Amino acid sequence: MPRIYLDYNATTPLDPIVLEEAVNALKNFSGNPSSVYEEGRAARILIEDSRDFVKSFLDAGGGDEVIFTSSGSESINLAIIGAVYAYKRLNKSETPHIITSRVEHHAVLNTFKFLETRGVETTYIGINEFGELIMDDLISSIKENTVLISIMGANNETGTLFPLKQILKTVKNIKDDILFHSDMVQVIGKTGFSLNNIPLDLCSFSGHKFYALKGCGALYIKKGVTIDPVIYGGHQERGLRAGTENTAGIVSIAKGLGVFQNNMNNELKRIGAFGEIFLDRLFSAMEGIRLNGHPVNRLKNTINVSFDGVRAESLLFNLDLYGISASAGSACNAGAISLSHVLKAHGYSINRIESAVRFSIGRFTTMDDLDYAISAIKEAVLKLRTDSA
Ligand SMILES: Cc1ncc(COP(=O)(O)O)c(C=O)c1O
Repeated sequence: MPRIYLDYNATTPLDPIVLEEAVNALKNFSGNPSSVYEEGRAARILIEDSRDFVKSFLDAGGGDEVIFTSSGSESINLAIIGAVYAYKRLNKSETPHIITSRVEHHAVLNTFKFLETRGVETTYIGINEFGELIMDDLISSIKENTVLISIMGANNETGTLFPLKQILKTVKNIKDDILFHSDMVQVIGKTGFSLNNIPLDLCSFSGHKFYALKGCGALYIKKGVTIDPVIYGGHQERGLRAGTENTAGIVSIAKGLGVFQNNMNNELKRIGAFGEIFLDRLFSAMEGIRLNGHPVNRLKNTINVSFDGVRAESLLFNLDLYGISASAGSACNAGAISLSHVLKAHGYSINRIESAVRFSIGRFTTMDDLDYAISAIKEAVLKLRTDSA
């Protein structure tokens, strides 16, 4: 049975062009980029060319930096912990205060939790039922000792897009020395973005969300922003991230962004249209379903829906038998269901959260995949509803 992959927000398959480039780096550029002899210099050139490309992709300015890391999670840790540690080092008597939203990825939320154990003050801003940030709460939470605000570009579970341009402007108007970080893991390489439009201070992203290798990420740092390292050792990555560089991973990041850039308009149009068609067909195929997150301001590739009377894990199990891969925000751990913190923050009922499934499409999704998926989802949902009745 063919597999139909509808979980692009979890990870994307490698693009064959990216794979080719990564294999070339693995085969032909295996020197240590810090070595001064030829093999090392060749790998160094590849890395610096990749960095330059990534900077130009982001429309970074002169003096801005891009640091390569092992993942989106590491970039996020480096941005948030690095900013707080630098602040503590420079302002010894002040307790730093940091702000984020309740619907961030755990890479952000658990970094905040860690910093709480180190005496850092934190604030978590809520959202409304459409996934929109409560701006009044954000504004009133800003204090003299607020060091950093971290708000994601798009939510990984619902696809809801945050109006970062407006949020950033509001924050900077209140206090312009607050560092603004964004977890852009679901945005960069997936939809249009330019620092000219949204001048973030710090921005994290991850290769495996845009058809590059897993285990590689990057952090953009605006000129003049000071952060401390979180991994100590050698002086790689401008002294901000010790460890011999993952040349193939870094090359794959640049190539992944390049492939996206070359075909961005067509890809966005196609995925946007497919997302709309999938949603329309799903809603015409059956009663008792609800779209989660923002109805309009969302990544069009992400369709998070609750199926009345159906438990997400049973539906996913049945869909897997049909050859379909999708995911649920709520996870079953040792028999206990842990409800999605993202859907909970929307104020949804427990039933709605427990029946929510995320389908996310991407570059290699075809119309045939969607046709098959719709009929399989319909059959599986009707069967589960009949069984439970
Ligand atoms: C929004 C968001 N942030 C951060 C991450 C973590 O990225 P990585 O898997 O590269 O550590 C993910 C991955 O799912 C994500 O979706």
